[in-house]
Amino acid sequence: MNRMREKSSKPRRKSDQYDDPKYNYKDYWDNREYEHYSEEMAIKRLLKGRRYKHAVDVGGGYGRLSKYLVQFSDNVTLAEPSQQQLDIAKIYLKDVPQVKQKKLQAADLNFKDGSMDLVLVVRVLHHLPDPERELKEIARILKPGGTFILEFANDAHFLNRIRYAARGKKVPKSPVDIRSEINKKAGEIAFVNHHPKTIIKILEQAGFELEAVLSGSNLRSPRLKKVLGKKPLLALEKVLQPMLAPFYFGPSVWLRLRKSNGKK
Ligand SMILES: C[S@@+](CC[C@H](N)C(=O)[O-])C[C@H]1O[C@@H](n2cnc3c(N)ncnc32)[C@H](O)[C@@H]1O
Repeated sequence: MNRMREKSSKPRRKSDQYDDPKYNYKDYWDNREYEHYSEEMAIKRLLKGRRYKHAVDVGGGYGRLSKYLVQFSDNVTLAEPSQQQLDIAKIYLKDVPQVKQKKLQAADLNFKDGSMDLVLVVRVLHHLPDPERELKEIARILKPGGTFILEFANDAHFLNRIRYAARGKKVPKSPVDIRSEINKKAGEIAFVNHHPKTIIKILEQAGFELEAVLSGSNLRSPRLKKVLGKKPLLALEKVLQPMLAPFYFGPSVWLRLRKSNGKK
């Protein structure tokens, strides 16, 4: 495989919203404990019993999930393009000095070829309507046999399939823009949901082998949160993540991939 770094023709636009002083991504997580802990659950499940030397949380924001990587890796880097997120991370991660920070975009990670053992990407792909370049860049920095944990918003989740079927249609395989018409006119940042089959195909072309799938945030519903409460919801989520994975049921898909070593 040609491991030469692909130079970008033009700098990729990052999601400026995360640098907007009026928008605090950390506040977004207030009252979203179910979603947060179901993500922690998925990461720990996918990485159980593994130990790595170098891990990187790409588009890791203020480090919400970087701190969990410390349990699985000796060195952890939070790679994030937004200075505002990195500034918040300095405070958020003050008790986790193992996590180093770098201002980087996913399309140009600036690590040596094959220098990482583990890459985590969560809630970033919805800002990348055409993520081929970023996924190739992640393949470049991972060593052969290295692990890639990817989470993305699932356009083919169960409810959406029913919605499309009711109109006599199939869920599109191409990314679906979920911004409002007003936001599109204002030229706001991309916000797309992806079809799992499309993403898996791109990943295979980039040199990854699929090892495991989980269905995430399966019970994301304000009504269920009210009726059941956090603990029972998370107990159910624990059972449902692997059980519903073959059907890509939930609004979030988790993949564990292995960087191919090129040998057949
Ligand atoms: C919804 S936040 C998710 C942050 C973190 N992964 C988490 O789950 O809490 C999306 C993050 O992706 C980052 N981002 C947007 N475009 C990016 C790009 N092209 N490369 C790397 N990160 C990007 C944003 O700055 C933001 O921190």
